[in-house]
Amino acid sequence: MIRVKKIAHAAYDVPDLDSQVEYYTDVLGLTVTGKEKDAVYLASTIDHHSIVVRKGAQAQCVRVGFQIGPEDDLHAFEKQVQGHGVKTQRKKDPEPTISDMVVFEDPKGTVMEVFKRDAFAGQRFPNKGIVPFKLGHVAFHVTDVKHVTKFYCDVLGFRESDWMADFFSFLRCGPDHHTINLMGTGSNRHFHTAFELRDWSHLQTACDYLSLNGYKLLWGPGRHGIGHNLFAYHRSPAGLITETFAELDRMNEELGYFEPRPWHRDHPQRPKVWPKDPAASNLWGIMPGEEMMK
Ligand SMILES: [Fe+2]
Repeated sequence: MIRVKKIAHAAYDVPDLDSQVEYYTDVLGLTVTGKEKDAVYLASTIDHHSIVVRKGAQAQCVRVGFQIGPEDDLHAFEKQVQGHGVKTQRKKDPEPTISDMVVFEDPKGTVMEVFKRDAFAGQRFPNKGIVPFKLGHVAFHVTDVKHVTKFYCDVLGFRESDWMADFFSFLRCGPDHHTINLMGTGSNRHFHTAFELRDWSHLQTACDYLSLNGYKLLWGPGRHGIGHNLFAYHRSPAGLITETFAELDRMNEELGYFEPRPWHRDHPQRPKVWPKDPAASNLWGIMPGEEMMK
Protein backbone atom coordinates (compact mmCIF):
# COMPACT_ATOMS: atom_id res chain seq x y z
CA MET A 1 0.00 0.00 0.00
CA ILE A 2 1.07 3.56 -0.63
CA ARG A 3 1.05 5.57 2.58
CA VAL A 4 0.97 9.36 2.85
CA LYS A 5 4.24 10.51 4.40
CA LYS A 6 3.48 13.93 5.81
CA ILE A 7 0.76 16.45 6.58
CA ALA A 8 1.55 19.26 4.17
CA HIS A 9 -1.14 21.87 4.58
CA ALA A 10 -4.55 22.66 5.96
CA ALA A 11 -7.06 25.02 4.36
CA TYR A 12 -9.68 27.03 6.20
CA ASP A 13 -12.70 29.13 5.42
CA VAL A 14 -12.96 32.24 7.57
CA PRO A 15 -15.48 35.10 7.44
CA ASP A 16 -12.84 37.78 8.08
CA LEU A 17 -9.80 37.01 5.95
CA ASP A 18 -7.74 40.06 6.97
CA SER A 19 -7.76 39.48 10.73
CA GLN A 20 -6.93 35.78 10.33
CA VAL A 21 -4.06 36.48 7.94
CA GLU A 22 -2.72 39.17 10.29
CA TYR A 23 -2.81 36.60 13.09
CA TYR A 24 -0.96 33.99 11.03
CA THR A 25 1.73 36.45 9.97
CA ASP A 26 2.18 38.84 12.91
CA VAL A 27 1.41 36.48 15.79
CA LEU A 28 2.22 32.97 14.58
CA GLY A 29 5.02 34.19 12.33
CA LEU A 30 4.15 32.45 9.07
CA THR A 31 5.15 33.94 5.73
CA VAL A 32 2.65 35.01 3.07
CA THR A 33 3.78 33.20 -0.09
CA GLY A 34 0.84 33.83 -2.37
CA LYS A 35 -2.37 35.77 -2.71
CA GLU A 36 -5.37 35.17 -4.94
CA LYS A 37 -8.77 36.75 -4.90
CA ASP A 38 -10.20 35.81 -1.48
CA ALA A 39 -7.37 33.35 -0.72
CA VAL A 40 -4.01 33.70 1.02
CA TYR A 41 -1.22 31.10 1.16
CA LEU A 42 0.99 31.01 4.23
CA ALA A 43 4.10 28.96 4.82
CA SER A 44 6.55 27.97 7.46
CA THR A 45 9.69 26.80 5.69
CA ILE A 46 10.40 24.54 2.73
CA ASP A 47 6.81 24.14 1.55
CA HIS A 48 5.16 26.83 -0.50
CA HIS A 49 2.21 26.75 1.87
CA SER A 50 1.25 25.01 5.09
CA ILE A 51 -1.89 27.09 5.66
CA VAL A 52 -4.41 28.39 3.15
CA VAL A 53 -7.18 30.75 4.22
CA ARG A 54 -10.15 31.64 2.10
CA LYS A 55 -13.11 33.88 2.65
CA GLY A 56 -16.11 31.78 3.64
CA ALA A 57 -19.37 32.01 5.53
CA GLN A 58 -18.16 30.22 8.65
CA ALA A 59 -14.81 29.36 10.20
CA GLN A 60 -13.96 25.74 9.41
CA CYS A 61 -11.21 23.47 8.19
CA VAL A 62 -12.26 22.42 4.71
CA ARG A 63 -9.21 20.65 3.29
CA VAL A 64 -6.09 18.86 4.48
CA GLY A 65 -3.11 18.18 2.20
CA PHE A 66 -0.83 15.16 2.45
CA GLN A 67 2.41 14.45 0.67
CA ILE A 68 3.44 11.05 -0.70
CA GLY A 69 7.08 10.09 -1.31
CA PRO A 70 9.14 11.03 -4.37
CA GLU A 71 9.17 7.37 -5.51
CA ASP A 72 5.44 6.80 -4.89
CA ASP A 73 3.09 6.59 -7.85
CA LEU A 74 0.21 9.06 -7.57
CA HIS A 75 -1.83 7.14 -10.13
CA ALA A 76 -1.45 3.92 -8.10
CA PHE A 77 -2.43 5.86 -4.99
CA GLU A 78 -5.58 7.06 -6.73
CA LYS A 79 -6.44 3.44 -7.64
CA GLN A 80 -5.88 2.46 -4.00
CA VAL A 81 -8.37 5.11 -2.85
CA GLN A 82 -10.90 4.08 -5.50
CA GLY A 83 -10.45 0.46 -4.38
CA HIS A 84 -12.20 1.46 -1.15
CA GLY A 85 -15.21 2.74 -3.09
CA VAL A 86 -14.17 6.38 -2.69
CA LYS A 87 -14.76 8.77 -5.58
CA THR A 88 -11.66 10.72 -6.58
CA GLN A 89 -10.86 13.71 -8.74
CA ARG A 90 -7.58 14.56 -10.40
CA LYS A 91 -6.44 18.19 -10.41
CA LYS A 92 -3.61 19.49 -12.58
CA ASP A 93 -1.72 22.55 -11.30
CA PRO A 94 -4.27 23.16 -8.53
CA GLU A 95 -1.97 25.21 -6.31
CA PRO A 96 1.48 26.78 -6.52
CA THR A 97 4.29 24.12 -6.46
CA ILE A 98 1.75 21.29 -6.83
CA SER A 99 1.32 20.03 -10.40
CA ASP A 100 -0.84 16.98 -9.84
CA MET A 101 -3.23 16.16 -7.04
CA VAL A 102 -5.68 13.40 -6.10
CA VAL A 103 -8.69 14.85 -4.33
CA PHE A 104 -11.39 13.03 -2.39
CA GLU A 105 -13.46 13.41 0.76
CA ASP A 106 -13.01 11.66 4.06
CA PRO A 107 -16.20 10.25 5.67
CA LYS A 108 -16.92 13.50 7.55
CA GLY A 109 -16.66 15.60 4.38
CA THR A 110 -13.18 17.10 4.78
CA VAL A 111 -11.38 17.24 1.43
CA MET A 112 -8.15 15.24 1.25
CA GLU A 113 -5.53 16.56 -1.17
CA VAL A 114 -2.76 14.07 -1.85
CA PHE A 115 0.21 14.98 -4.03
CA LYS A 116 3.94 14.73 -4.66
CA ARG A 117 5.94 17.84 -3.86
CA ASP A 118 7.51 18.99 -7.13
CA ALA A 119 9.39 22.01 -5.90
CA PHE A 120 10.47 23.46 -2.60
CA ALA A 121 9.87 27.09 -1.83
CA GLY A 122 12.68 27.45 0.69
CA GLN A 123 11.69 30.68 2.42
CA ARG A 124 13.64 31.53 5.55
CA PHE A 125 12.30 31.42 9.06
CA PRO A 126 11.02 34.93 9.80
CA ASN A 127 12.23 36.85 12.85
CA LYS A 128 8.88 38.20 13.95
CA GLY A 129 6.13 36.29 15.72
CA ILE A 130 6.13 32.81 17.26
CA VAL A 131 7.62 31.13 14.15
CA PRO A 132 6.87 27.40 14.52
CA PHE A 133 8.97 24.67 12.92
CA LYS A 134 5.95 23.40 11.04
CA LEU A 135 2.28 22.50 10.91
CA GLY A 136 2.10 19.53 13.26
CA HIS A 137 -1.41 18.11 13.30
CA VAL A 138 -5.09 18.83 12.78
CA ALA A 139 -7.62 17.45 15.26
CA PHE A 140 -11.31 16.98 14.51
CA HIS A 141 -14.51 16.31 16.40
CA VAL A 142 -16.23 13.40 14.65
CA THR A 143 -19.51 11.55 14.94
CA ASP A 144 -18.13 8.09 14.12
CA VAL A 145 -14.56 7.87 15.41
CA LYS A 146 -14.07 4.17 14.59
CA HIS A 147 -15.19 4.57 10.99
CA VAL A 148 -13.15 7.72 10.32
CA THR A 149 -10.06 6.24 12.01
CA LYS A 150 -10.34 3.12 9.83
CA PHE A 151 -10.64 5.32 6.75
CA TYR A 152 -7.40 7.18 7.52
CA CYS A 153 -5.59 3.87 8.18
CA ASP A 154 -6.98 1.86 5.24
CA VAL A 155 -7.18 4.55 2.56
CA LEU A 156 -4.31 6.92 3.44
CA GLY A 157 -2.02 4.48 5.25
CA PHE A 158 -2.04 6.06 8.71
CA ARG A 159 -1.10 4.00 11.78
CA GLU A 160 -2.75 4.13 15.19
CA SER A 161 -0.38 5.64 17.75
CA ASP A 162 -2.71 5.68 20.74
CA TRP A 163 -6.36 5.73 21.73
CA MET A 164 -7.99 7.35 24.73
CA ALA A 165 -10.58 4.72 25.73
CA ASP A 166 -12.74 4.11 22.64
CA PHE A 167 -13.46 7.72 21.68
CA PHE A 168 -10.21 9.55 20.84
CA SER A 169 -7.68 8.25 18.28
CA PHE A 170 -4.19 9.61 17.54
CA LEU A 171 -2.86 8.70 14.10
CA ARG A 172 0.57 9.06 12.56
CA CYS A 173 1.82 9.12 8.98
CA GLY A 174 5.52 9.58 9.83
CA PRO A 175 7.69 9.61 12.94
CA ASP A 176 5.58 12.21 14.77
CA HIS A 177 3.17 10.61 17.26
CA HIS A 178 0.14 12.14 15.55
CA THR A 179 -0.64 14.25 12.52
CA ILE A 180 -4.39 13.61 12.64
CA ASN A 181 -6.45 13.03 15.76
CA LEU A 182 -10.12 12.26 15.94
CA MET A 183 -12.37 12.71 18.96
CA GLY A 184 -15.83 11.18 18.98
CA THR A 185 -18.09 13.89 20.34
CA GLY A 186 -21.24 13.66 18.23
CA SER A 187 -20.42 16.38 15.68
CA ASN A 188 -18.13 16.76 12.69
CA ARG A 189 -15.99 19.89 12.96
CA HIS A 190 -12.51 21.25 13.49
CA PHE A 191 -11.14 20.81 17.01
CA HIS A 192 -7.68 22.38 16.81
CA THR A 193 -4.68 22.91 14.57
CA ALA A 194 -1.25 22.45 16.09
CA PHE A 195 2.14 23.96 15.29
CA GLU A 196 5.43 22.54 16.48
CA LEU A 197 7.76 24.79 18.45
CA ARG A 198 11.39 24.14 19.33
CA ASP A 199 11.21 23.46 23.07
CA TRP A 200 9.88 24.58 26.44
CA SER A 201 11.55 27.99 26.29
CA HIS A 202 10.06 28.61 22.85
CA LEU A 203 6.64 27.70 24.30
CA GLN A 204 7.19 30.18 27.13
CA THR A 205 8.16 32.90 24.66
CA ALA A 206 5.09 32.03 22.60
CA CYS A 207 2.75 32.30 25.62
CA ASP A 208 4.24 35.70 26.53
CA TYR A 209 4.00 36.86 22.93
CA LEU A 210 0.37 35.73 22.71
CA SER A 211 -0.39 37.57 25.95
CA LEU A 212 1.29 40.78 24.73
CA ASN A 213 -0.92 40.58 21.65
CA GLY A 214 -4.12 40.09 23.63
CA TYR A 215 -4.49 36.30 23.29
CA LYS A 216 -5.40 34.36 26.43
CA LEU A 217 -4.63 30.67 26.83
CA LEU A 218 -7.59 28.29 26.82
CA TRP A 219 -5.62 25.45 28.41
CA GLY A 220 -2.01 24.91 29.40
CA PRO A 221 0.85 25.03 29.49
CA GLY A 222 0.91 21.37 30.39
CA ARG A 223 2.20 18.03 29.22
CA HIS A 224 -0.19 15.65 27.52
CA GLY A 225 -0.04 12.00 28.58
CA ILE A 226 -0.90 10.75 25.09
CA GLY A 227 1.95 11.91 22.82
CA HIS A 228 3.75 13.47 25.81
CA ASN A 229 3.93 16.87 24.11
CA LEU A 230 4.15 20.13 26.00
CA PHE A 231 1.09 22.13 24.98
CA ALA A 232 -0.70 25.47 25.21
CA TYR A 233 -3.98 26.25 23.45
CA HIS A 234 -5.46 29.57 22.37
CA ARG A 235 -8.14 30.73 19.97
CA SER A 236 -7.37 32.52 16.71
CA PRO A 237 -9.44 35.55 15.63
CA ALA A 238 -11.71 33.35 13.49
CA GLY A 239 -12.50 31.25 16.57
CA LEU A 240 -10.47 28.22 15.46
CA ILE A 241 -8.32 26.76 18.24
CA THR A 242 -4.54 26.73 17.78
CA GLU A 243 -2.20 24.52 19.79
CA THR A 244 1.48 25.28 20.16
CA PHE A 245 3.47 22.22 21.22
CA ALA A 246 6.96 20.80 21.68
CA GLU A 247 8.55 17.46 22.60
CA LEU A 248 5.91 15.30 20.88
CA ASP A 249 6.75 11.58 20.97
CA ARG A 250 8.56 10.24 17.93
CA MET A 251 8.08 6.67 16.73
CA ASN A 252 10.87 4.30 15.79
CA GLU A 253 8.78 2.41 13.24
CA GLU A 254 11.21 -0.50 12.91
CA LEU A 255 11.25 -1.18 16.63
CA GLY A 256 7.60 -0.35 17.30
CA TYR A 257 8.07 2.01 20.21
CA PHE A 258 8.45 5.72 20.82
CA GLU A 259 11.91 7.15 21.47
CA PRO A 260 12.47 6.87 25.24
CA ARG A 261 11.89 10.02 27.28
CA PRO A 262 12.25 10.71 31.04
CA TRP A 263 8.56 11.60 31.33
CA HIS A 264 7.35 8.25 29.95
CA ARG A 265 5.62 5.82 32.37
CA ASP A 266 5.98 2.79 30.08
CA HIS A 267 9.43 1.44 29.19
CA PRO A 268 9.34 1.14 26.26
CA GLN A 269 6.41 3.41 25.41
CA ARG A 270 4.36 1.57 22.78
CA PRO A 271 1.07 2.41 21.09
CA LYS A 272 -1.80 1.45 23.41
CA VAL A 273 -5.28 2.26 24.62
CA TRP A 274 -5.07 4.73 27.47
CA PRO A 275 -7.78 4.72 30.13
CA LYS A 276 -9.98 7.80 30.25
CA ASP A 277 -7.95 9.28 33.05
CA PRO A 278 -6.84 12.91 33.64
CA ALA A 279 -3.20 11.81 33.19
CA ALA A 280 -3.91 10.88 29.58
CA SER A 281 -4.88 14.53 28.98
CA ASN A 282 -2.40 16.31 31.20
CA LEU A 283 0.28 14.61 33.27
CA TRP A 284 0.64 17.85 35.23
CA GLY A 285 -2.95 17.55 36.41
CA ILE A 286 -4.86 20.58 35.21
CA MET A 287 -7.90 19.75 33.08
CA PRO A 288 -9.36 21.88 30.28
CA GLY A 289 -12.34 24.11 30.93
CA GLU A 290 -15.52 24.09 28.87
CA GLU A 291 -14.02 26.73 26.57
CA MET A 292 -11.86 24.02 24.94
CA MET A 293 -14.89 22.06 23.76
CA LYS A 294 -16.76 24.99 22.20
FE1 LIG B 1 -3.19 18.53 19.61
